[in-house]
Amino acid sequence: MKKDIITLGIESSCDETSVAVVKNGREILANIIDTQIPIHEKYGGVVPEIASRNHIEAISRVTKKALEEANISFEDIDAITPTYGPGLVGALLVGLSYAKALSFAINKPLVGINHIEGHIAANYITHKDLKPPFLCVMMSGGNTQLIHVKDYTEFEVLGKTRDDAIGEAFDKVARVVGLGYPGGPKVDKMALNGDQNAIELPRTHFDNLDFSFSGIKTAVINLHHKNPEINKEDLCASFEKAVTEMLMENTKKALKQIKVDTIALAGGVSANCFIRKEFLDLEEQGIKVYMPDLKLCTDNAAMIASAGYYNFINGKKSSLDLNAIPNLKL
Ligand code: KG4
Repeated sequence: MKKDIITLGIESSCDETSVAVVKNGREILANIIDTQIPIHEKYGGVVPEIASRNHIEAISRVTKKALEEANISFEDIDAITPTYGPGLVGALLVGLSYAKALSFAINKPLVGINHIEGHIAANYITHKDLKPPFLCVMMSGGNTQLIHVKDYTEFEVLGKTRDDAIGEAFDKVARVVGLGYPGGPKVDKMALNGDQNAIELPRTHFDNLDFSFSGIKTAVINLHHKNPEINKEDLCASFEKAVTEMLMENTKKALKQIKVDTIALAGGVSANCFIRKEFLDLEEQGIKVYMPDLKLCTDNAAMIASAGYYNFINGKKSSLDLNAIPNLKL
């Protein structure tokens, strides 16, 4: 009988210290997420140095908890799979250094994982039937990309943002209208009671599959500065409608270009209620739409362990001199 493969995912690219144990890339045995949101909230955003210090404080404890919850020992692990980029360099170095030390100490292979690949893999955990090829609509705090997932470890970026990531735009809008950090979920909630057609906002289009979110972000800032009494619910709802239209337009073009009929959403912004609903509506046009469970949309180590599994079984192995790469590309 084929032996189960156990990967230990380690994630510390931003403000969550997370360690997970995943079986065969698809089944979570433990996924511990120690969030720093309450720590960074008072600064209105993530303070990189504070994030690194808190990762250091948390990493051993979170790892111990993950092993206990999964009811395994170090001996049962087949590969240690930490995120090595993209992300905040100091934060990445904590998880990566811990993983390298562990790999050396317990003599288990190290497989460095691209955080973006992890977000894609969150879908494999939620949907046991999902297999490449498909189109991934990646929308997170640091990235907005349309990715042709040709195979589990083979990707082609078809289009990407030329300036801000969509999550940055959500966070900025939230900050401007006084909703605080992290902004995305707060804009999401506020938009539920707003009129999406109340405020006209600009949309950016390119001939290719690229995006731009800085124009709409600036438009919202200007509107609010000119009229601080502007209805916040309407502003959030109109903003969501505009960014979703931009996402949908390029998604439809990309589906035609690569001739696939399956979409998977990924990244923190894919937790957004309106975006999820609009994408699900595409199913009426015969397109299969997958999205991660809400708790797997934002940063977590289970998705990293899942991507780790596919990289490991494809023969990828990292050496102990692997460094953190803050602007790592897919
Ligand atoms: O994927 P993620 O956890 O971190 C990165 O890898 O970048 O994404 C974080 C982003 C933040 O900008 C956050 O505001 C946004 O995802 N976000 C949301 C929602 N939940 C998280 N944006 C819109 N609606 C949400 N419900």
